[in-house]
This record gives sequence, structure tokens and C-alpha cells, in this order.
Amino acid sequence: TSDHLRHVQSMATMPSGAGNISHLKAIILGESLASEENDLVFPSDHFSCQAHVSSPQQYLEMYKRSIEDPAGFWSDIASTFFWKQKWGKPVYSENLDIRKGDIRIEWFKGGLTNICYNCLDTNVEAGLGDKIAFYWEGNDLGVDATLTYTQLLYNVCQLANYLKDVGVKKGDAVVVYLPMLMELPITMLACARIGAVHSVVFAGFSAESLAQRIVDCKPKVVITCNAVKRGSKVIHLKDIVDAALIKSSESGISVDVCLTYENQSAMKRESTKWLEGRDVWWQDVIPKYPTTCAVEWVDAEDPLFLLYTSGSTGKPKGVLHTTGGYMVYTATTFKYAFDYKSSDIYWCTADCGWITGHSYVTYGPLLNGATAVLYEGAPNYPDPGRCWDVVDKYKVTIFYTAPTLVRSLMRDSDEYVTRYSRKSLRVLGSVGEPINPSAWRWFFNVVGDSKCPISDTWWQTETGGFMITPLPGAWPQKPGSATFPFFGVQAVIVDEKGVEIEGECNGYLCVKSSWPGAFRTLYGDHERYETTYFKPFPGYYFSGDGCSRDKDGYHWLTGRVDDVINVSGHRIGTAEVESALVSHPQCAEAAVVGIEHEVKGQGIYAFVTLVEGVPYSKELRKSLILAVRKQIGPFAAPDKIHWAPGLPKTRSGKIMRRILRKIASRQLDELGDTTTLAEPNVVDQLIALADV
Ligand code: WT7
Repeated sequence: TSDHLRHVQSMATMPSGAGNISHLKAIILGESLASEENDLVFPSDHFSCQAHVSSPQQYLEMYKRSIEDPAGFWSDIASTFFWKQKWGKPVYSENLDIRKGDIRIEWFKGGLTNICYNCLDTNVEAGLGDKIAFYWEGNDLGVDATLTYTQLLYNVCQLANYLKDVGVKKGDAVVVYLPMLMELPITMLACARIGAVHSVVFAGFSAESLAQRIVDCKPKVVITCNAVKRGSKVIHLKDIVDAALIKSSESGISVDVCLTYENQSAMKRESTKWLEGRDVWWQDVIPKYPTTCAVEWVDAEDPLFLLYTSGSTGKPKGVLHTTGGYMVYTATTFKYAFDYKSSDIYWCTADCGWITGHSYVTYGPLLNGATAVLYEGAPNYPDPGRCWDVVDKYKVTIFYTAPTLVRSLMRDSDEYVTRYSRKSLRVLGSVGEPINPSAWRWFFNVVGDSKCPISDTWWQTETGGFMITPLPGAWPQKPGSATFPFFGVQAVIVDEKGVEIEGECNGYLCVKSSWPGAFRTLYGDHERYETTYFKPFPGYYFSGDGCSRDKDGYHWLTGRVDDVINVSGHRIGTAEVESALVSHPQCAEAAVVGIEHEVKGQGIYAFVTLVEGVPYSKELRKSLILAVRKQIGPFAAPDKIHWAPGLPKTRSGKIMRRILRKIASRQLDELGDTTTLAEPNVVDQLIALADV
């Protein structure tokens, strides 16, 4: 096709000698791409012509500059934001090499700014005051609301004034346990406005998990709502907070204020349990505060938020992001990866309880003055057509979601999709786990009518923003590949010894130098930060992901290589699930592995050894699953409990997970050498009990 030729031609004329991007040679030459035409999906001429980055060549020129002159590249972009005081010199400073001392990353240090001011005030001043910032779509059909930039600013200021009034100061933590109501981004922004550090806890986490986070970051104030409707279920969030606050006070952490939003569509205030003196109704106090609030100017390196995520040990990690670099990075990645234009209507289905909701529901879109949809409910309620109903209702142009949702909707009739027009859509996005090519194709062909490029964005809580992502107008896509690194990201693949491998290869995904959106530490545990991310391969940030690169230089993420499993795009540590299981009085030992799951990507498979003399039963299985739901949250419930009178261990007592993974996935002919086990016969015993 002429499209195809045009692209190959533009690749053939690419500047060579692009320094650190030598692995893009195949793209530069274009030849191998041409030989694989069937795997490639080209953006239309129409799309590319209007895009911010419209050819591989343009990408390469920008990428080259971002790598050769990061300070110049990023300070040009940063200058488009409002700074009360410009940053000093150097623009950034870093040490990513553990052999050379402490790990340290700083961007725009000395600069004074405020991310809330850049999200709201600057947009209002630029004339966007009456533009819709958020369309809010409630769980139930017909329940909705809007907020313009001016209204959002007013709401944020009122809450900010209240928080100051109850003693929240710059640097103080505020824990937020809210569902997808407007009050969630309002709260994040109000904290940012006064320099407080928000820590949003996904409102699907249990009281136990919430308490653990409260104990770790010691907030003065917790903000929640009484209840929320998800699908046809009502979830009493305030009860969960009450239980968490009892638990945290047992650890000596007491919270002064529990600000509670009355979510009337789910529950009336009369039925809400209340602790006088501590609990305050949002609606009773916030509207009384002034709608203006002076901004607290903070250093670019002052903390913006903490977000807890799972690692390979039981204790969640408090990922800390700072202000300036994160602001510049989320705004820029949003603009380029979605080819955002001011006329777009953007919808990301993620919850603000995860990093996606921080960077690409709240900050990235608002920094760009975008109009975004916020959806309270379940994506398949009341039926699997709901997403497309919402797309048509708000004329959504950019739709960003997770492969697990795509796979689950794919199982229903296409008619749920095709009965809606979806003609507003122009860009699709995917995040959370690798998207399998068949889900990619369904998303592309059925949802996007074969005309919308898909941005398969690879990134992490730790990275703050997109790291490897298509730029939709620039690249021909390969279904299932996240394509190429974003500007400023020196993504490399290393072998077991930490040696970078060039060309076509498979190994561990690392990053060689810092980018503005990188996390700066794990809250209260800088040593764990260094050990987890910078020690495995000295000189590099280690992502925890495996990755291969094909002969055209495209990147293919292959999943986690550590003890973290990815269930429906949610990160869960096997150790967390194990410790929840052994908290059950009848469970002596547990070993958890991930297995392939048709919809969730990965499922949780738990081997459990029971306390001496306890018989295994259906009821016990149920109560073990319940223990995990209670300790972590419903989304972490094991898919399979496998009774294991004994576990395969080495003579030194280490559980051989490799063998457990094979048993779990029923790849029994691939068990490998089992003779080194302390008791080789436990393997046969486990196989025999697989379907008990
Ligand atoms: C892990 C990070 C980043 C927001 C959502 C999850 C996996 C994420 C992709 C993708 C392949 C992906 C990785 C990563 N992941 N996006 N597009 N392709 N894998 O954030 O909870 O910090 O999890 O999610 O394994 O390490 P998170």
C-alpha cells in the first residue's frame, strides 16, 4: 500500500549514528520491517499527518536529542509550566550506580512550583475556566455530574482550606480511601495545593491492608466516604476504615480526623456508624470554606505522594514521587502517547487507587487542560455494553484500559460493542500487563473499527509515567508489542550477569539513566529501594520484568521475573498472599505461584500445608480464601487452593517454586530434576492431590 511505502521510505532516510539507539538500526534501515508486512499495523495517513509525532524519523530525532541532551530536552518542556522560581543548576543530578555510593535522583532541584496550580489555576487563567475538567458517570444509569476547571478549582480550594484548618501542614501525610467520585481527584489536588503528601489506598483493599499503610505513613487525617455501589452491590467503605483505625491505634497510631463524604446514591448518612469527635461529614464542613486558597510553593524535589505497591516480601513498599519531575513527565507522556489534542475527550478506566489513576486520570490530563471521564462503577454493569454506552454518551476520543477488561468483554457477543456507534474514538490504550495479540486484534478491529492506533504503554508504579510506548502516529504497530522507549528513557536489556545485550535478544529490562518521573525512594526505607531496584544489576534500574527485542528493535514484555504476580493488572506479591494464608489458624505453610488465566492474565495458585491432624475440606478451602480476602482484599483471592501435605524443598529447606509452577500449570513432563529434593516423593503426592 502507499501508506506502507511511505513509512518504509521515511525509515530508509533516517539519520544513522544515533548513538545510544543503535538497536533501532533495523527500523532505520526499514528492510526487515518490509519483509514482515503481515505483522505490522500502520497508522493511516490521515492520523499520522495530524499527529504530534508523525513519523519514525521525527521520533528518532526527538529521541536522540532527549538522550544526548536530557537537561536541554526536559528543561525546554519544563519551561512551559508555571514555576514560582526557576530551578537551579544542574537541571538534574543522579547516581544510579550502587558501586559509586547512595542512589540519588533529582530533577529541577531548587525550582519552586505547585502541581495543583499547574493543573487548575494556569488553565483557568488561560481561559479554560468553563471547560469541563471531569464528566462523572455514576454506577447507575442516568446518574452523572460535571465539573468545569473553575468549579474544580473552587472545590479543591475549599478542601485545602479545611485541611489547613485541622492542622495538616506541608509534608504531612493524608490517607485517602475513596472510590471513583469527583472527591477523589479533588482530595489529591487539595493535598498537593498545600504541600501535603497524599497516599491513596485503593478502596478494594481490606481493613488490614489499610491499617498497615496508615501505620507506615502516620496520617493526621483519613478521607473516605460512607459507601459505594459497584454494580448491584453496596460496599460499606466507612466500616472498613473504622476497623482499620481500630487496628492502627493498636499499633499506637491514632488519626485525629476521619473526613467522610456522604455518598447518597449508595447510603444515607443515618445508617452510617459514627465516632463523635473524630468523624466529620464532608458536606457539613467543606462548603463553608472559602473558594480560594493560597498555594504552598514547594521545591521540585518535595514529595507529592506515596503509593503503596507489592514487592517480593510481605510488606508493601511506599513508592515516593516528588513534584517537579513527575509533573513534567506525566504531562509530556500523556500528550505524546495518546497524541492528545485540546478537542479530545479522554477516558481512562483505571481507579485513582493505582498509579494509572494518579498519572493518567488526575495529573496528566489536567496538566494538559483535558476533559476526562471519571466512572464510578463496574465496566460491565448493567451489561457488557456499558463502556461503549459511556463512549457514545460523552463522545470519548481516547479510551485507555487494561487487557483484562478487553479479554472479559471479548467473551461476550460483539453485538454489545457494535450496537453503539463509537465513531468518536480515535486512539485506544492498554496498560497493566502484556496484551496478547488476539485481545489486541479484537480491541483494534471490533472496538476501534480498525482505525484507532493502540498505545500499549509499559510502565510501573515506580516509573511514574510511560516508559515504553507507541507514539500512535509515528510507528507501525505490532500487536502485543509496546514498541519503543519514550523520550529520555534509555531502556536496555541485560543478561543474568547484568551485561547489556544488543540486537535481537531476550533478558531483563533495565533503565540506564534517570528520567524525570522516576520514584525517588521507598518511604522510610531507602535501603530497600537500593537493594530491590539497583543492586540486582549494578549501574541500572531493574524493572523486575523480562523483555525481548525483535530484529526490528520492537520491545515485547514477557512478564515479571520476580515473586510478583499480575492479576487483572493488579500487582500482588506471592509473599503477601502466603502470609495471609498462614495467618489462618489451620494453615501451617503456604507457597503461592502465578498461573495463566484466560481473563485475568495471571491467576493465584496456592499450595497449602495444614496444621498436623487437620483434615482438608471444602469448608476449609473457603475459609482459607476468605482469610486472603480479609487480609489483602477481594481482588487477591486465590483461584485455586491445592492441598499439600508436604512441599518440595531443597535439603537446605528452600521451597522449589520452579517445580510448583510446573505442577500448577500441569506441565508434568517438564518437572526437571527432582532428585535434589529433600523428599522427592512429595512431588508424586502433590500431583495425586491436584484435583482434590
Ligand atoms: C507491572 C507494573 C503501570 C500501571 C499499571 C500497573 C506490568 C504494566 C504493561 C504493559 C506489559 C505491563 C509489568 C510491570 N505491566 N503495563 N503495557 N505491557 N506489562 O502498575 O502495579 O506498578 O505494575 O505491570 O509487569 O512491571 P504496577
